[in-house]
Amino acid sequence: MRAAGRLLHSVLEDVRTMIKPGVTTLELDARAEKLIRDGGGIPSSKGYEGFPSSICASVDSEVVHGFPNDVPLKEGQIVSVDCTCILNGWQSDSAFTAPVGTCSKDVLRLIKVTEECFWKGVSQAKAGNRIGDIGWAVQKHAEDHGYGVIRDFCGHGIGREMHEDPSVPNYGKPGRGVRLQPGMTITIEPMIAMGTWKIFIKDNDWTAVTRDNKPCSHYEHTLLITEGEPEILSLPGAAVGR
Ligand code: MF3
Ligand code: CO
Ligand code: CO
Repeated sequence: MRAAGRLLHSVLEDVRTMIKPGVTTLELDARAEKLIRDGGGIPSSKGYEGFPSSICASVDSEVVHGFPNDVPLKEGQIVSVDCTCILNGWQSDSAFTAPVGTCSKDVLRLIKVTEECFWKGVSQAKAGNRIGDIGWAVQKHAEDHGYGVIRDFCGHGIGREMHEDPSVPNYGKPGRGVRLQPGMTITIEPMIAMGTWKIFIKDNDWTAVTRDNKPCSHYEHTLLITEGEPEILSLPGAAVGR
């Protein structure tokens, strides 16, 4: 899973550099798929329950599971890129949200606070703590900024499968839920909205969009639980706990 995380991180860092006005999300998808396959991996989203692409590309008020398309990205938009790959039978899952060119201060703050929410969750992700400790830490930071925490999608266990137990919600109560143990591998993936957390699903039966059409940001990594600080497998070089 460390190797899968290293590959995925290198792929996403490459795709990140492509994000600018005029590029299409299909171009980002093609690049991600090529880099994963060149690295010996398989893009695990492609064909997953019928999902068409190697990345989910979700623009502005799209929350998750956006289909890459041929519409050029425009200055001032934000785009979330979420990608899962398998290497040697092991999965890694990571997402980030980036501005397209110059964006409003409001939306840049949303992206920053979403990443901070992730790190608040990480601070609780250690053996002996519970899933609810992670959710509470994420939720509190988001709501302290007046943002909405998406309820319909959660982090998750991950390993040979993309989605395993336990579910890792971005909300919860301290001291509740499954106890974390060394060796568990999970994702933490806050999806934080500028307005309401309520969503609807588009006609494609996949893409979630905020009901008030306000922007939403997503940030995700795959983590290994240890006795101490977790190891962030899809962020090599973070060296947390190593
Ligand atoms: N990467 C997503 C997650 O964070 C799931 C992708 S769904 C798929 O759980 F259909 F695109 F594969
Ligand atoms: Co993901
Ligand atoms: Co995930």
